[in-house]
Amino acid sequence: MTDFDAEARAILVGNDRGGYTVPTKGLYPYQWNWDSAFAAMGFAAFDADRGWRELESLMAAQWPNGMVPHIIFHEVDLGYFPGPDVWGTGREPATTGITQPPIAASAVARLFAADADKARLAALYPKLLAWHRWFVEYRLDRGAVCITHPWEAGRDNAPDWDGAMASVDTSGVGEYIRRDTAHVNPEMRPQKADYDRYLAILYFGRDCGWDEVEIADNGPFRVADPSMTFILLRACRDLAVLGAELGEDTEEIEGWIAVLEAGAETLWNPEAGHYDSRDVRTGQFAGSLSCASYLCWYAGLVDDRMLPKLQSVLARVRYAVPSYDPDGPEFNALRYWRGPVWGIVNYLISTGLAEAGHMTEAARIRDDTRALIEVHGFYEYFDPLEGRPAGGAAFTWTAAIWLIWAGQADIGAN
Ligand code: DGY
Repeated sequence: MTDFDAEARAILVGNDRGGYTVPTKGLYPYQWNWDSAFAAMGFAAFDADRGWRELESLMAAQWPNGMVPHIIFHEVDLGYFPGPDVWGTGREPATTGITQPPIAASAVARLFAADADKARLAALYPKLLAWHRWFVEYRLDRGAVCITHPWEAGRDNAPDWDGAMASVDTSGVGEYIRRDTAHVNPEMRPQKADYDRYLAILYFGRDCGWDEVEIADNGPFRVADPSMTFILLRACRDLAVLGAELGEDTEEIEGWIAVLEAGAETLWNPEAGHYDSRDVRTGQFAGSLSCASYLCWYAGLVDDRMLPKLQSVLARVRYAVPSYDPDGPEFNALRYWRGPVWGIVNYLISTGLAEAGHMTEAARIRDDTRALIEVHGFYEYFDPLEGRPAGGAAFTWTAAIWLIWAGQADIGAN
């Protein structure tokens, strides 16, 4: 075990709040959905029981309609805004009213490979199935997965949403105090205009009682998103394998896979020549070459159309993969999802590339991630041009991907 392995384990253990893990102390004091799934993968590398518990605590917060919320507010922490009172979901434990990328089934697959506990798998399987069914029931547009709030994609302020966000009415938002900018440099975070819109969309959901049909018909924001689509596609493939392991009939999941594959094609922007986000309200593509565009291989699509674009971006940055085109008009090397490198997305992109046989690109992305962590530490994200660390330190998911991928010698071992 290297010193980095030990440090990564210590971060996971240090961010453990007893059955769930916070992404980082201070900035994110609750249980976040996809952070938790990555945490579980990290724990799977040295403490499978703790990994299972992470996912069990996440899925315990599932709503009766199948939705698994994006934050679970286990203990009120005034250092975070917007907290449980703002969301007003009336759930116990308190949660937000939106979801996040469905990494959980893929995390379960990794845990099951490390610890083939069929009883634990059998308990989680129907919950994962219900969550995926919720996406299919409420969130598809022409087969692509839609987000109803930028926080659902996890890529909060990506240029992907700029067009759709521009028409969100913020006149009823009023005054509020952000907490995030007290924890980290405001230049690394979304701007006030973004937060006004995040809140306006939140208030719409709260005021209609988080009614998915009303949100679908009249919500202020609905964008078909490549990250959600590709991640759900992969999660369905992983869930089908887990279902077969349990002797379940996986025909329903196979049907979803076919629908999502067709949906992915509706995210191909022929003019720009890349996968793109699509505003459902206007039908317009965002024209944003983002890190989500490269998740097609992770989704298991047999499709190399993105390869030249990826190779071009790799040639233009010191550290891959920037979350937005480094020559794009909205590029900002430090501001959250408008340029910085995110280790977890790198892990997903590289895993897909390696599975598709693109070992050179897969290794480059892994090596860059490793270098960033070795030189700067386990930060939330990094500047793709100079490597400057950004956001929260001692970050759970950065530690997790070190343990399962960035710190590993064998690129094909995922
Ligand atoms: C935040 O608070 O910045 C989160 O990204 C919302 O999920």
